[in-house]
Amino acid sequence: MSKYIVVLTNDTDIIKRLSQLIEEKSSCKLFATHSVEDSLRVMATRRCCAAIIDSDVYPDETAIEFLEKMKLVWSDMVRILLIGNMTEFDLDAIINAAEVDRVILKDWNQSQIKEVLHEAFAKNDMRNNLKKMSHIVQIQNEELASLNKVLKEKILLQTDEVMKINSQLSLSLLASVQALTHAVEAKDILTRGHSDRVAGFCLDIAGQMRLPSEQIEGIYMAAKLHDIGKIGISEQILLKPAPLTREEEEIVREHCIIGYKIVEPIPFNCNIARIILQHHEWFDGNGYPYGLKGDQISLGARILHVADAYDAMICDRPYRKSLPRAQAVDQLQAGAGKQFDPEVISVFCAFVS
Ligand SMILES: [Fe+2]
Repeated sequence: MSKYIVVLTNDTDIIKRLSQLIEEKSSCKLFATHSVEDSLRVMATRRCCAAIIDSDVYPDETAIEFLEKMKLVWSDMVRILLIGNMTEFDLDAIINAAEVDRVILKDWNQSQIKEVLHEAFAKNDMRNNLKKMSHIVQIQNEELASLNKVLKEKILLQTDEVMKINSQLSLSLLASVQALTHAVEAKDILTRGHSDRVAGFCLDIAGQMRLPSEQIEGIYMAAKLHDIGKIGISEQILLKPAPLTREEEEIVREHCIIGYKIVEPIPFNCNIARIILQHHEWFDGNGYPYGLKGDQISLGARILHVADAYDAMICDRPYRKSLPRAQAVDQLQAGAGKQFDPEVISVFCAFVS
């Protein structure tokens, strides 16, 4: 494919010298023009790889304007400016404003202009290749964007399905928890409804403390199941209408560990088994089964312990009568920092009083 070079000059000697040089290259063709209009016409009709502009054809400002226009319309064309030895030209302005690729003196030697033209062809090839590559990249980007759109729609659809399945699983898990709670309460009839009420208090406390929804859900489930271990305790002890002996007390205390073992294999999102295991631990370390204290006890267990104790106080037991609510709140507050987490007490007593 021929390469075209347009020359703008009124100097016949320049045209002659350039023609001789370019004719040596059979793949090149020179278009000599004598006016800006002629040059523009050639550039508009031929894909020129280079333009050689004689600075003496037009005064300084017009030449810059012309070169700028060439840069805007034919950005891949190499622009070479010819200047005479005496030319008073603002080279900085030309290079900065019109981004001329090369400025050479009119009395060039042939090897110099050969090198310049060789460089011009290479630069033009590079610009053409860049143009082609950026076109390919643009097409690939468009294809990627459309692929992304399809993928995004698929992911949204699948996420929607996963959420539906999760929600069904949560419902069936909740139903199982409810069934387990009923199983405990069927045995320990004196505390019927206790787990539901405790779970309600836990929801209130955890909500007031602005805990993450997943953690609130875990504490709620743990509250529903906190006494599940009582399934393993004899009814004689559970329903005894009198205070328990020390031995019986020890047996009842085992319900935390039994409950932990029952719940631990169930894949809940939160560590519900741990909350159940620790729900009788005291803030000062005097609780059971391990005598943990403060932060060693999970927050869920500290909340559950307060809710559990409050509900036990306001309900009748076989061996004692219930306390009035205000008195129960007083007892909770008296136990803050000892049996109970003071922060949980302060949150709970603020809305239960
Ligand atoms: Fe308990």
